[in-house]
Amino acid sequence: MNPLNHVAIIMDGNGRWGLKNKNSRNAGHKAGLHTVEKIIKVSIKNDIRFLTLYAFSTENWKRPKKEIDYLFKLLETFLTKRIDDLNKQNIKLKIIGIKNFSKKLNKLLNLSEKKTSENTKLQINLALNYGSKFELINAIKKLNKKKEKINEKNLNKFLQTKNIPDPDLLIRTGNTKRLSNFLLWQLAYSEIFFERKLWPDFDGNDFEKIIKKFKFIKRNFGKI
Ligand code: IPE
Ligand code: IPE
Ligand code: MG
Repeated sequence: MNPLNHVAIIMDGNGRWGLKNKNSRNAGHKAGLHTVEKIIKVSIKNDIRFLTLYAFSTENWKRPKKEIDYLFKLLETFLTKRIDDLNKQNIKLKIIGIKNFSKKLNKLLNLSEKKTSENTKLQINLALNYGSKFELINAIKKLNKKKEKINEKNLNKFLQTKNIPDPDLLIRTGNTKRLSNFLLWQLAYSEIFFERKLWPDFDGNDFEKIIKKFKFIKRNFGKI
């Protein structure tokens, strides 16, 4: 059986769910938070050590301001309410992406990371204003500046996922089969599951089913 150490998820389909069920894209984002809570529970139950959640891409700034503002407000409320409990559950929060939000949100993110930095049960990497192409270009620039040799090990040192093992499993909900600039380097050997359900409809049971399937995949890594 394959060990499952790191799961990455592209949480897609909130907008469509919201429009369909509540006539509002933003209502879908709100509903999506419940799925996040369920997925955290199942991750802990399955002894998963790293959970990376794609919450906002570098391209998502192209959305209407009203939706962007709502998303960050939602995150702010969520963290304010939930960070102490996450901390109690021994969960570590790490932001991957560029923290260039409002002063208030930046502060809250930094505080949440600091508060939970010593925790060891589960590390949640929240990909916020994250773009894989930007991350790679940035890493190469840093390698150049430090005159370090360009190789895999050195490049990894300058990625935002430094010290995080590559995902074993990638799940994308929302019935779309693409990567949308997510962890292009790190997903080189991940098992990929595209899920029809929209993110707010995805639940712990769906996640458990994927985990079970994953465990029995023959992972070759180039070997036979
Ligand atoms: C994913 O859901 C969440 C974010 C990108 C913030 P979407 O908002 O992309 O939902 P759809 O794909 O439009 O339904
Ligand atoms: C990917 O979803 C980003 C997140 C889930 C945060 P998008 O909905 O932004 O992806 P595209 O634009 O459909 O590829
Ligand atoms: Mg989408």
